[in-house]
Amino acid sequence: MPATVIVGAQWGDEGKGKVTDVLAQRSDAVVRYQGGNNAGHTILIRGEEFKLHHLPAGVLHPDKRAVIGNGVVIDPGVLLGELEKLAQKGHAVRNLTISDRAHVILPWHTLLDGAREDGRSAVGSTKRGIGPTYADKAARDGLRMAELVDPEALRAHVRDHLPVKQGILRALGSGQVIDGEAMLRNTLAYGERLRPFVADTTTLLQDLHEQGQHLLLEGAQGTLLDIDHGTYPFVTSSSTTAGGACTGTGLPPSAIRDVWAVCKAYATRVGLGPFPTELKDADGEYLASAGKEFGTTTGRKRRCGWLDLVLLRYATRLNGFTGLCITKLDVLGGMHKLKVATHYTLDGQELRAPPARADQLERCTPVYQEFRGFAKLSEADTRRIVQRGLAELPSPAQEYLDFVHKQLHVPIRLVGIGPGREDTVEVRA
Ligand code: IMP
Repeated sequence: MPATVIVGAQWGDEGKGKVTDVLAQRSDAVVRYQGGNNAGHTILIRGEEFKLHHLPAGVLHPDKRAVIGNGVVIDPGVLLGELEKLAQKGHAVRNLTISDRAHVILPWHTLLDGAREDGRSAVGSTKRGIGPTYADKAARDGLRMAELVDPEALRAHVRDHLPVKQGILRALGSGQVIDGEAMLRNTLAYGERLRPFVADTTTLLQDLHEQGQHLLLEGAQGTLLDIDHGTYPFVTSSSTTAGGACTGTGLPPSAIRDVWAVCKAYATRVGLGPFPTELKDADGEYLASAGKEFGTTTGRKRRCGWLDLVLLRYATRLNGFTGLCITKLDVLGGMHKLKVATHYTLDGQELRAPPARADQLERCTPVYQEFRGFAKLSEADTRRIVQRGLAELPSPAQEYLDFVHKQLHVPIRLVGIGPGREDTVEVRA
């Protein structure tokens, strides 16, 4: 059975966790393929909230496999912390497999991320060490899980790399001194505890796929944060687009059929970087407060704006979306009018695709199409819409969705109209 990929269509935080949860019920394994603990999603266990950063959403379905693929970077202390918290709540994780080829975030990566971010080249990073770990991977200087769980290999890696990393920290003006002994002690202990989970997930996933199992490949961050196709340099360091699902798992492109986009009914961004439809007025404040737009990982307030079809068309073509999941439609309830950017103007020219340069994207003026607003949905409205379908939505909300779907030529498969898992309307193909 072909695999399904879930990709964020914007700058992350689109609600991928919720969509993954819905689709996980019909899958045999949920797989993360890129990013690290810069990602975050909130899950509810018997009414209690958990924030997961490393673990795939499937980890709480004991009958499914949860896999962390080779494209992910892993902070072992953070991962163990998540496993421990779940165990304390009675959810001892036994269905997790971690790729032996995934790279390890070491303490010096986190320190280097912080030092860089405090210096001249800030991108609004989450300071979790993601960029420096991927940089070491590309420079062929990284440590992989296969070596983390081998004390000899780990000792040699720390011995060889510590002086260089300490030197770079000094050159960046950081006063941080790495205690090599303590670092080695902790990391050896992490390796020991994680060893039972580490395996060749490339072969595992290929086998499962060949046996006809359904794999759900769960993207982190979003298309516009992709290292190649995003709003560079204000991006993350991995391939967040659908292509990353192959390189980050070892599955071939022919193993994938569906690519589902997760997209908020408006736009948000955390951190720095261009955001043409950003709202710095009362409408922006309304979206931030109605949508509770604060980051799961850093708690930072998210910037909010109108939906941007220039960027969504770009994301659709990059990923080959076959289905659209629109989240947080209810947040638009209570606004008098709604806007959607259909194209930009830049230096007197009309643009239908974003320019490569962040400074040029920053100067683009969005051209909007306006729509009627609709009233806030009541609890009764929400229940009725979930039961009977999208035809029960207020007519301006239907017009809004219809416009987006027609502009992108992608069918709408899911619409989120409230915070709970149950507040989701599924459109059957
Ligand atoms: P890094 O991935 O921590 O290096 O951060 C690079 C950029 O990506 C920053 O603007 C972050 O705010 C953003 N970013 C990283 N992870 C996420 C995420 O999961 N959601 C939204 N933005 C993210």
